[in-house]
Amino acid sequence: MVLYFSGTGNSKHLTDIIADKTKQPLYYLNDAIKKGEHSEISQNETLIFVTPIYGWRIPSIVEEWIHENNNLNGQKVYFVMTCGGGIGNAGKCTKRLCSDKNLQYLGWRGACTHCMTCICACPVSAIEYGDISKGKRRYHCPN
Ligand SMILES: Cc1cc2nc3c(=O)[nH]c(=O)nc-3n(C[C@H](O)[C@H](O)[C@H](O)COP(=O)(O)O)c2cc1C
Repeated sequence: MVLYFSGTGNSKHLTDIIADKTKQPLYYLNDAIKKGEHSEISQNETLIFVTPIYGWRIPSIVEEWIHENNNLNGQKVYFVMTCGGGIGNAGKCTKRLCSDKNLQYLGWRGACTHCMTCICACPVSAIEYGDISKGKRRYHCPN
């Protein structure tokens, strides 16, 4: 399931791409948060949260929704974030959130080997290596 929050549409755009590739159902967090609803989520479901970065972390209302959702326990969870320039401590915060909620955080767990795949293979060039990669062509072997 792709659970997404979006204010100005960037995260929604990314959500559509992810949902298209993964064929996962969508869950619109803006509405759920407004209505105080919590989704039906089975234990063995893999969850992909897509959110903007607000103040160097995921929006606090999304964090609270995750905290308060009793259906969240034990699932595998990805976080995908869109931002203007920097995510600050969002990685650490989401890791801590997963640990508090007994969720399985799916990240690199410190094992990133700087292979560049995330940067070069992103279909919309959304991933940057600080300022160094900004505006530069993405290379992928044409064969
Ligand atoms: C209240 C607010 C706080 C933001 N804080 C950050 C931030 O800390 N770092 C950053 O890089 N971008 C920040 N941004 C920019 C958004 O993360 C970025 O525009 C994002 O793609 C918006 O996603 P959306 O269109 O799905 O709402 C902030 C935007 C807003 C409205």
